This record gives sequence, C-alpha cells and structure tokens, in this order.
Amino acid sequence: MKTEILDSAAPSQITRAAELLRQGGLVAFPTETVYGLGGNALLPDAAQRIYAAKGRPQDNPLIIHLATPQEAEQYCVTCPTFYRLAQAFMPGPLTVILPKRDCIPKSVTGGLSTVAVRVPSHPIAHQLIALAGVPIAAPSANLSGKPSPTRAEHVIADLDGKIDAVLVGDACEIGVESTIVLIGQDETLTLLRPGAVTYEMLCAAVGYEIAVDAAITEKNDKRPLAPGMKYRHYAPHMPVTVLDAADHAFYAYVNAQPDCGVLCYEQDLPYVTAKRVCSLGDSNSAQQQAHRLFDCLRALDACDDITHVFARMPKKEQVGLAVWNRLVKAAGFDIVQLS
Ligand code: TXA
Ligand code: MG
Repeated sequence: MKTEILDSAAPSQITRAAELLRQGGLVAFPTETVYGLGGNALLPDAAQRIYAAKGRPQDNPLIIHLATPQEAEQYCVTCPTFYRLAQAFMPGPLTVILPKRDCIPKSVTGGLSTVAVRVPSHPIAHQLIALAGVPIAAPSANLSGKPSPTRAEHVIADLDGKIDAVLVGDACEIGVESTIVLIGQDETLTLLRPGAVTYEMLCAAVGYEIAVDAAITEKNDKRPLAPGMKYRHYAPHMPVTVLDAADHAFYAYVNAQPDCGVLCYEQDLPYVTAKRVCSLGDSNSAQQQAHRLFDCLRALDACDDITHVFARMPKKEQVGLAVWNRLVKAAGFDIVQLS
C-alpha cells in the first residue's frame, strides 16, 4: 500500500485525512502526547486493520479519541466523577476508562466491557477528530513493542506502506502517552498508567488518595488492569539496565563498560566517555526528560556498535513517575543499585 504523506499545515490535507478515516482508512496523526494511529472506532474492521498494521495483540484494547468530553455519553456510561475529571483535565493528556455502550465494537476494546476515552488538546488532533465526525480509535503509531513515536519520522520508519496516510505535524510536546485512570464501581479511581496528568494532580482533583495499579511499579505476573502494561515495551533491541546510583558511582560504572550506550542527563555529559551517549535534558526537568525519552530510545536502538544500554534512574515524582515507568519497562525491570 502507498502511504500518503499529508501536511497538517494545509487545511485541505487535514480534510483529506478526515475523509480517509470516515471511509475506514488508517491515518497517523500528532497529539500532545505521542503520534496516534487512528481508525473509525465505530467500524469493527478498522480496529482489525490497526492491530494488523502494528502487529499488536488483539487483547490489547484501543483508546477512543473524541472532540469534546460531552460526546463520551454516546459511547460509554459516564458518572459525576468522569465530569469532575473532564472539567479539570480535558481536553488534555488524560484517558478515562468507563463501561462501554453497544455502539463500540468489542474488537476496539479487546473484548472488554469497558472503553477508554480521551479528548486530545492538540489543535490538529482536535480538528481531525471533529472533521471526521466519528470517535477515532487510536493506539500509539509505532510497531508493537517499539518506543512510541514522538515525531512523524518515527511513524514513517515503523508504518510506511502499512497504513493509508500520515498527517505530519511537529514533535509531540509531552512525549509520553496519556495518563490512564479507571473509574470503578462506587466511582473509585485507580491509576493504570502514569503520564503528564500526575498522580498528585488526580488526587487533588478528587480530594482523596487514589489507588495505583501495582503493574506500574512492580514486575509481577499478575494481570495488569491495562492489558497493554504487561508487554515489554518501548524497548530498543539491545538489553537496557537502569542504574540507581549517585553521580560518581554511575560514571565509574558506565565508563568501565565496553560497547555500551548511556542514557543520562545534560549535567552528566562531561563525565561520561561511553561510545554512544544520549541526554534526556536537565536532570531537574521531568518534562524535558518525558519529551525526549522515546526519541533517545529510538536513537540508541539505531546504533549497531553497542550491545547494552545503561540509563540513569529518573526521580519518581510528578511526571518523573511516567518517565521512570517507561524506562523500567524498556529495561524489563532490570534495575541495579550501586552504592
Ligand atoms: O497518549 C495516548 O494515550 C496515545 C495517544 C495516541 O492518544 N495512545 C496510546 O494508546 O498510548 P496505546 O494503545 O498505545 O495505549 C493504550 C493503553 C494500553 O495499555 C491498553 O491496554 C489500555 O490503554 N486500555 C485501553 N482500553 C482499556 C480498557 N478498556 N481497560 C483497561 N485498559 C485499557
Ligand atoms: Mg502504545
């Protein structure tokens, strides 16, 4: 299949992308978190085609993307807590899981009776969804297992020839996927995936300490509540180890390793002598680290002269929890503490 490369700066090309989506085509598009691979969520076939293009297991459900939170009512059973979260965080990088209505095919939800909904704040994503006039099912636009795409070139590298079009925009501002929260019975909340809407922000919005799915922080064989959290993910092809170490212990360790890549902070650069070094940015800016993480993992993946990647352990606070979570998943929870 020939993949159309569309320019999001041209309104006629956004219209073209919306038309392809309405007709059942697959179109990748930028959002504020990562690029998504969109299909019409009301067509069971579109979901099948998304799974096939990504090589994604069919039990891993898709998020449906809406132009406004009010539309959620048509596709899922909402509640006052949903509207409280919508008021605080939508449009924006938050996905909420609620019981689904019949119009959403089970192929979209991986057979589950719940559906994930999100209202992106990115102006191009918003315009595209509004023009398509249907809910858009969209996972991240990467091959399954690869780091999520934060630039159009990542999408093209993974999916060229497999999808109908890529709507090209700028690099995604946030850089890690949306926060996912489950609204359970009695409207209790559980954090299933950390993101730019932080645990602290969610607790402040609802006024109590919400639960956290253990799959975020622990390697265990229990089934995570978000099926996608169970896969080794975001990973370059070589092994990744996260080092929990003070500055000098970190430098001494990585500088003694042959043929390795190092993922560290801007402040570390003068002290690291490894073959390949990628900076996540300022050690005090979790936002910068989130923005760069997947781009760095892809850059290291492309290096054929290294056999191992060592990364500094991010701070687990605020957006840092999302960076930590993606990195330890890329490492398959291989964390080494150095004293
Ligand atoms: O920022 C984002 O959320 C991006 C952009 C494109 O919007 N999308 C994204 O989709 O990250 P994806 O498919 O890569 O991740 C969706 C996650 C998976 O871990 C999946 O298991 C979980 O959401 N999920 C979807 N529906 C669910 C449901 N009904 N119950 C539990 N988890 C669900
Ligand atoms: Mg994904």
